[in-house]
Amino acid sequence: MLVVIKQDYDEMSKEAALLVADLIHRKPNCVLGFATGSTPLGLYQELIRMYREEGLDFSKVTTFNLDEYVGLPPEHPQSYHYFMWENLFKHINVDRRYVHIPHGMAVDVEEFCEWYEERIKQAGGIDLQILGIGANGHIAFNEPGSSLGSRTRIKTLDEFTKRDNARFFENQEEVPKYTITMGVGTIMDAKSLLLLASGNSKADAIHATVEGPITALYPATIVQMHRKATIICDEEAASKLSRKYSGYLS
Ligand code: F6R
Repeated sequence: MLVVIKQDYDEMSKEAALLVADLIHRKPNCVLGFATGSTPLGLYQELIRMYREEGLDFSKVTTFNLDEYVGLPPEHPQSYHYFMWENLFKHINVDRRYVHIPHGMAVDVEEFCEWYEERIKQAGGIDLQILGIGANGHIAFNEPGSSLGSRTRIKTLDEFTKRDNARFFENQEEVPKYTITMGVGTIMDAKSLLLLASGNSKADAIHATVEGPITALYPATIVQMHRKATIICDEEAASKLSRKYSGYLS
């Protein structure tokens, strides 16, 4: 696992964008896994800038998002469909036929989840999966206690995550109870992982992920077992690491 510590959020975002752009240059038809939330917004801004100013070409890229709230239609402002189109996809030349985001209104959720797993396989697997991390150690919506071998499925949101995500809704009652999320096993199948973390609120989670024991109580800790995982974080998120120098391999 490569841990890269950058000074602040902007530096973290730019470093992450270089890594993503490098993959697109090497493999224009690559498969990218995207995350939502506050953390990757700076990365997405930088990718948009690279598209506009440097001609970074997304036309052959296939995308898969990590998760979506159950019960929110794609046009709902808090849905992850809406988030991805507003914050990235509508600003770049991605081909909408190659975009995949779990469908929050799927009639048969189980069948949908199987189809999603199958689509990832048909696309040749995910080349690079971008991840944020919950302060409780979740990746995607694999909350503490999630099976480390899990596949795409429906999950109940943790009370902690509901409180955390209430900032995006009118009140906590409006936060959906369930999500469709890639499983920990699905994420671990990606050929490479890029986990981003910024701010003091993520310091404990980053400490556990990099230096703690692997446990389903902190699903992100499984990243230690991945053959090609990069964590890019800022100094605040790295502040609780005991071995703290940028660019170290663990
Ligand atoms: C979002 C996702 C979540 C977030 C995590 C951190 O698609 O999968 O795991 O990455 O909750 O969210 P932020 O970045 O808002 O702190």
